[in-house]
Amino acid sequence: MEKPQQKLVISEKDILHKIKELANKIDNDFNEEPVVFIGTLKGAFMFLSDLVKHIKNPNVEVDFVRVKSYGLSDKSSGNVELVKDLELPVEGKNVIIVEDIVDTGLTLKFLYERIKELNPKTLKVCALINKKERREVDVPVDYIGFEVEKGFLVGYGLDFAERYRHLSEVYEVVKDE
Ligand code: IMP
Repeated sequence: MEKPQQKLVISEKDILHKIKELANKIDNDFNEEPVVFIGTLKGAFMFLSDLVKHIKNPNVEVDFVRVKSYGLSDKSSGNVELVKDLELPVEGKNVIIVEDIVDTGLTLKFLYERIKELNPKTLKVCALINKKERREVDVPVDYIGFEVEKGFLVGYGLDFAERYRHLSEVYEVVKDE
């Protein structure tokens, strides 16, 4: 399988171990109360799918949104648009936004505020990767898989120009000198 010029950052074993921990925490926080997991396409598709497999709560619903951020660089521009909206009603429900990676926070802030307007009972955020050092706006992230300082990451749902999403581990793209 072709891989990017890369450096392994998070192994498949570590991802699965962390997902089990996160699923346990979420189960402890909500017990059997209904919870709607909202995955952000496309990056969170693998994370969401592995996460919900380890949730023991029988009252789970799953939905997806797709948010696009327009700009020329590999960094969020803040011009965020919802290109696929929620399909399930969330008013009065416990909602967890499941994000692949929170970088500047601009995408998540947009989504958080949009879902908050729909009056959920509770609204939490679960992110596989948090790049806290790069944050530009304040957004709460309640469940965090891994803290990563910098670097452009691919694999396990994350892409570079739509490639490498299928890889089962997370790599940092190493640019040629
Ligand atoms: P933010 O708005 O800057 O927080 O960016 C969030 C979105 O940008 C994520 O949901 C990803 O889709 C994408 N993104 C940010 N950093 C990376 C990265 O290192 N690799 C791949 N996608 C990224």
